[in-house]
Amino acid sequence: MRIDIATLFPDMCRRVTEESIIGRAVKAGKLDIRVHNIREYAFNKWNRVDDTTYGGGMGMLMQAEPIYLCWQDVAVDLPKNPHVIYMSPQGKPLTQQRALELSKMESLFILCGHYEGVDQRVLDEIVDEEISIGDYVLTGGELGALVLVDCVGRLCPGVLSNDLCFEEESHYNGLLEYPQYTKPAVWRGREVPEILLSGDHGRIRDWRREQSLLNTLHKRPDLLEKAPLTDRDKVFLAKTRQQEEPSSRDTEAAENDKCDI
Ligand SMILES: C[S@@+](CC[C@H](N)C(=O)[O-])C[C@H]1O[C@@H](n2cnc3c(N)ncnc32)[C@H](O)[C@@H]1O
Repeated sequence: MRIDIATLFPDMCRRVTEESIIGRAVKAGKLDIRVHNIREYAFNKWNRVDDTTYGGGMGMLMQAEPIYLCWQDVAVDLPKNPHVIYMSPQGKPLTQQRALELSKMESLFILCGHYEGVDQRVLDEIVDEEISIGDYVLTGGELGALVLVDCVGRLCPGVLSNDLCFEEESHYNGLLEYPQYTKPAVWRGREVPEILLSGDHGRIRDWRREQSLLNTLHKRPDLLEKAPLTDRDKVFLAKTRQQEEPSSRDTEAAENDKCDI
């Protein structure tokens, strides 16, 4: 997959994409990541790419033309126009599902905003999709773009040592992953669950599924509303909820205790 990042801070993006799994995938030719400095497309001798906003208001805005020129320059080099993403707190929140869909695209062009953001006209002209990495505001789109590149990049064929590794991970199938353990079998008195040492793959698979359901129930119960659950999962969750719910007698006793205090 080819990914182009347009930014005012190219070094920040290059440093991160040269490291770790994504960096290795780039070296191995599995990912082609190119970083473009929008400032190189400034059309004035001061290399300025921002200006004050019409209508007044605080702060500066990135101008349309340098971004447009940068996008045009990148697009000539590609067989098809890239899918253009603008990192923005106003975008749809990034999800694993969207990352998986994006990982199947041929090429992405990611625009990082800065200052107060970007002139709306260039967004209207070139952007296919706005993506947010959360309901908070960052100083620039670079961290968001790097999050996006990391989570989309690792889903591209050949980037992870085994393409199936991510299929059991949190969010892939709508649930959170089960707890995992490595050597030693006993660490400071804490033992690895015995079933994982049993070698019985069928029982291990069932245990992992149940732990995954439990993790989701305890940490992100909202995910269970949309997760594809089997009948067995539903029975397991119903039983767990029943066991974990304080019985009405316990609640009554607690209320009485409060009154006694
Ligand atoms: C200070 S923000 C501008 C916020 C803009 N004035 C608004 O209120 O929507 C500067 C840049 O940071 C990036 N950014 C900020 N928060 C983000 C988020 N949650 N997700 C993705 N990008 C974000 C965007 O590229 C944005 O253009």
